Amino acid sequence: MALAAPALLRPRPAGAALTGRPFVQPALDQGRIEAGRRVFGLAVATGSHDFLDGVETATIGVNAGFLGPILSARAGDALRMNVANGLAEPMTLHWHGLHLPAAADGGPHQEIAPGATWSPEFDLRQKAGTFWFHGHQHRKTAEHVWAGMAWVIRVSDDEEAALSLPRTHGEDDFTLVLQDRRFDASGQMPYDANMHDRMAGMQGDVMPVNGRPSPVLDTDALRVRLTILNGANGSFYRLHFADNRAFHQIASDGGLLAAPVPLREALLSPAERGEYLIDLADGAVATLRAEAFGAEAPVMGSAGIREVMTFRPKTAHPAPPPLPERLAELAPPPAPTGETRTFTLSMSGMGMMGDFLINGRQYDHGRIDFSVPKDAAETWVWENTTPMIHPIHIHDVQFRILDRGGRPPAPHEAGLKDTVLIGSGEKVTLRLLFDDYADAVLPYMYHCHILEHEDAGMMGQFTVV
Ligand code: C2O
Ligand code: CU
Ligand code: CU
Repeated sequence: MALAAPALLRPRPAGAALTGRPFVQPALDQGRIEAGRRVFGLAVATGSHDFLDGVETATIGVNAGFLGPILSARAGDALRMNVANGLAEPMTLHWHGLHLPAAADGGPHQEIAPGATWSPEFDLRQKAGTFWFHGHQHRKTAEHVWAGMAWVIRVSDDEEAALSLPRTHGEDDFTLVLQDRRFDASGQMPYDANMHDRMAGMQGDVMPVNGRPSPVLDTDALRVRLTILNGANGSFYRLHFADNRAFHQIASDGGLLAAPVPLREALLSPAERGEYLIDLADGAVATLRAEAFGAEAPVMGSAGIREVMTFRPKTAHPAPPPLPERLAELAPPPAPTGETRTFTLSMSGMGMMGDFLINGRQYDHGRIDFSVPKDAAETWVWENTTPMIHPIHIHDVQFRILDRGGRPPAPHEAGLKDTVLIGSGEKVTLRLLFDDYADAVLPYMYHCHILEHEDAGMMGQFTVV
């Protein structure tokens, strides 16, 4: 049996019901159209939310205490995001997974002063898929995201719309944001990362799904589509059903897979998204669970099994509807036309204590680590020499995994990706095409998406020129 991290053993606030309340599906927000542009207003402010029944927990929210509406847009849209910083401190808001100019990226170089509004405009050059946005303030990302500065944008396109898939949001198509949290005795969730949290990534023992722990959904649907974001600071989730039923993955970070991939468990690293089809036609209760673990899993094992949510079918049917055989046209990874770069993840100091480094260096806000010529298709080799596991995220592009430990990627990892798990001692090779946008000055980030590691300097920056 794995050791539980000591921080997970805190008492829960007395009297607060943790589980069993109805599932909450935030509404879709289509924005408004102004002169041919889809415009979203995003007000970031402190607020509160009832994660625990009858307890108001202080948060930072986007258009709500915690659960803002999910942004909904179409591939090809011209967007404007009006991000109003209602906080008393600087912040940024980054569009994770979107292909856009560096000036619109919302990374640590696009700081928004307290009271100011930042209004980037960009085209949505994506496939249908699930993306998200979150705070990315230098050294404050973990704290801001923990408080709630994160939400989802779902993108549709014609290719996806032509498929026979569940897509009635809130009826047979659900967006689930999984973010474990821990609460103090008064039901608050202060960002009080201790030394262990900074090393392993901040984790909690309560599993809010869209801000509500382990909810229940009564449903008429024979098949549901679950779009799941791992929005945790530092937790990896190995998702499976209590009855070990099979399900299918249909999309990865950047869009649809070529064909549905049958699975009995699905691993989502921090920041990864997956879309899954779950058959409920047998009428049996289906409980989705997650084995949760942190960066130190190779040494410490998992932190335990969390109940994610329970589906209670209201009807049964002798057979589930047929699955589409093909989903999307997935071109092979682009042929290499540019450099091969190696990125070595390491730690300085002794054992599990020390700094997190990429190529021997910590992030330096004033240093551009390298430049990529625009239109190059590069090969990036990631090597992890640490005893921990790290989900590596690269801004600007959706990339492809060429090999993992010398083997081709598993089918569910063969599609469009922006975040990839690099196991301890593992080597993973990626192919990335840097088309469309160049900027000699403003960089894009690459970093570990365990937010405590990112804030500790496991990050670098590159320009496309
Ligand atoms: Cu999800 Cu650099 O971020
Ligand atoms: Cu990103
Ligand atoms: Cu890491």
